[in-house]
Amino acid sequence: MNPLLSKLQPYPFERLRQLFAGVTPSPYHSPISLGIGEPKHPTPEFIKSALVNSLEGLAGYPATAGEPRLREAMAAWVKRRYDLDLNPATQILPVNGSREALFAFAQTVIDPRWPTPAVVCPNPFYQIYEGAALLAGADPYFAPSDPARNFAVDWDSVPADTWARTQLLFVCSPGNPTGAVMPLSEWQKLFELSDRHGFIIASDECYSEIYFRDEPPLGGLEAAKKLGRDDFRNLVAFTSLSKRSNVPGLRSGFVAGDAAILKQFLLYRTYHGSAMSPVVQAASIAAWNDETHVVENRVLYRKKFAQVTPILAGVLDVALPDAGFYLWARVPEALGLSDTGFARELLAQYNVTVLPGSYLAREVGGFNPGTQRIRMALVADAAECVEAALRIVNFVQSRSR
Ligand SMILES: Cc1ncc(COP(=O)(O)O)c(C=O)c1O
Repeated sequence: MNPLLSKLQPYPFERLRQLFAGVTPSPYHSPISLGIGEPKHPTPEFIKSALVNSLEGLAGYPATAGEPRLREAMAAWVKRRYDLDLNPATQILPVNGSREALFAFAQTVIDPRWPTPAVVCPNPFYQIYEGAALLAGADPYFAPSDPARNFAVDWDSVPADTWARTQLLFVCSPGNPTGAVMPLSEWQKLFELSDRHGFIIASDECYSEIYFRDEPPLGGLEAAKKLGRDDFRNLVAFTSLSKRSNVPGLRSGFVAGDAAILKQFLLYRTYHGSAMSPVVQAASIAAWNDETHVVENRVLYRKKFAQVTPILAGVLDVALPDAGFYLWARVPEALGLSDTGFARELLAQYNVTVLPGSYLAREVGGFNPGTQRIRMALVADAAECVEAALRIVNFVQSRSR
């Protein structure tokens, strides 16, 4: 057996299941989950139709690089969204959702022959980064996000000798769970570090279309272009339809950026056997070509966050994030509860599920930046999210007395 498998941590939802074992949820309240970050708005009908109208595609093996017209649709979207001209033949590859791509990418780019290759990740972070690094034979290093700076990651806290052995850096903008969007100045810092140490940047942008400010979040490739890095050297962006188009079950996204790296990634993926089904390709083309449903989806999230955030802000330290669909709140000290205690008690008293922040982060130097925080995914419909928020207010008020 691969001994690296034993290094993997249980997934947050598995830990949640164990935490809730033995807890009887309040029978007086219907269950509401803010625990899992899975989009719940309905899938647009035209995407479903595109899927069922292309079933004849099941009769043939797909190419790993995807149909040229799929890559062209992706490139056209990148042009509309970021005003970038990508070569669909060399600078874009379809992937079966960003999760598998983030994982496979680390396996492609890490050179495990180095004495101790490092992969730098934000903290808190999406757990796939850690598992991808460990199974590629690298050491993950976690850089904390700083609540005092709108949860920007403190890249300066990474020791020089860690940067020196870093082969891959994961960034997540908009961030899960913080919702923070990286500004151009932060990108400039990371590009300088990448040039100095030769590492590759994997930019996870799967929440890019759900945002609350007027200006859409800056993309990694867009930042590179603005800084004159037209070849996107050592940079690959990961984009997904799951949240943008409410199709988490479709498993569809793409990677774009440095052509030399994508050539190697395509080689890896050919052996890995991760070609996208022709049926999924057809549905994806329809989804990338339409922006109306994305605007409508964003309006739903904006209305929901505008309703829910002020309710919770009465009792918790929460503010409207830049983007994403999470609230990342501090557990008030006056409650005398840990983040896990908060989640258990809330389920027992009000049948609302939230995710303890410590499950989404790792302890570094004696400090876990997720401890005493909870993540609330506002994915259910607005009425349900408002109901959950009101119950949380009651819960906090009843415990504070
Ligand atoms: C930060 C982040 N990246 C990537 C993913 C994977 O999304 P998908 O594989 O559906 O594209 C998720 C899913 O929740 C996520 O939160």
